[in-house]
Amino acid sequence: MADGLILALPKGRVMQDGLAVLRRAGLDLDVVGGTRALRHEAGDAVVIEMRNRDIPTYVELGVADAGVVGKDILLESGSRLFAPVDLRFAECRLSLIRRRGAEGELRRVASKYPSLATRYLRKVGSSTDVIRLAGNVELACLTGLADAVIDIVETGGTLAANDLEEVDVILRSTARFVVNRAALKLKTDRLRPLIAALKRVVAEGSDPAWIGGSGG
Ligand code: PRP
Repeated sequence: MADGLILALPKGRVMQDGLAVLRRAGLDLDVVGGTRALRHEAGDAVVIEMRNRDIPTYVELGVADAGVVGKDILLESGSRLFAPVDLRFAECRLSLIRRRGAEGELRRVASKYPSLATRYLRKVGSSTDVIRLAGNVELACLTGLADAVIDIVETGGTLAANDLEEVDVILRSTARFVVNRAALKLKTDRLRPLIAALKRVVAEGSDPAWIGGSGG
C-alpha cells in the first residue's frame, strides 16, 4: 500500500466516532476496537492510534497523512495544519473556571492548555502566569494551588460534582479532519475526494449526534 493513506486517530470515543465518519465517507476501515494494537492495517488505510495531543505532531511531520483532532488541541499545538472539515462531534468548550462564588483578581491560573490560557489572560488584561498541569486540572481550584483553571467543559458534570462554575467561555471546539500539506499534493487523488465526501457526510447530518448517537 505504497500510496495508501496513513490516518492518525485519538484513542477512545473520538476514535470510534472518527472511524464512523470516515466509513460513511466511503473508506473501508477494518479496525477491531478494544485491543492493545496501536497500528492497524485497515483496508483502505493504515490507522495509527495515539493520545489526542500527539496528533498534530504526527500529521505536521508527515508520519500520518491526515487525522482527526479537536480544535482545542489543534490551536494549543500551534501546528499549521490544513483543517478542511469540521466533523461536528466531540463538542466541548474551553472555559475559565472558578469555585462557585469566587471573586476578585486572578492570581494563579492552572491549565493543561498553557498557550491558549496565556493568550486569553493577556487579552483580558491579566499578567498572571499559568501553572501547567497534565490532568484533573479542576483539582487545582479545589486545593488552592490556583484560584482559577482554564479547562474543557463537556457535559458540565465535573463542575457540578466539585462546586465549580464556568465564568467565561474562551473557545468552542469540535473534532476536525486535519491534513498534512505535502500529503495533500502527493496523495491528492486519495485526499481530495475524501475531504469532499467528509464535507458531504457532515452536511447531511442535522444533529451533532448523527454519527453513532454518542454526540459529545
Ligand atoms: C476533561 C476535562 C474535564 C472534564 C470535563 O478531562 O479536562 O476535566 O473532561 O468533562 P465534563 O464537563 O463532561 O465533566 P478528561 O476526563 O478528558 O481527562 P483529564 O483531565 O484527566 O486530562
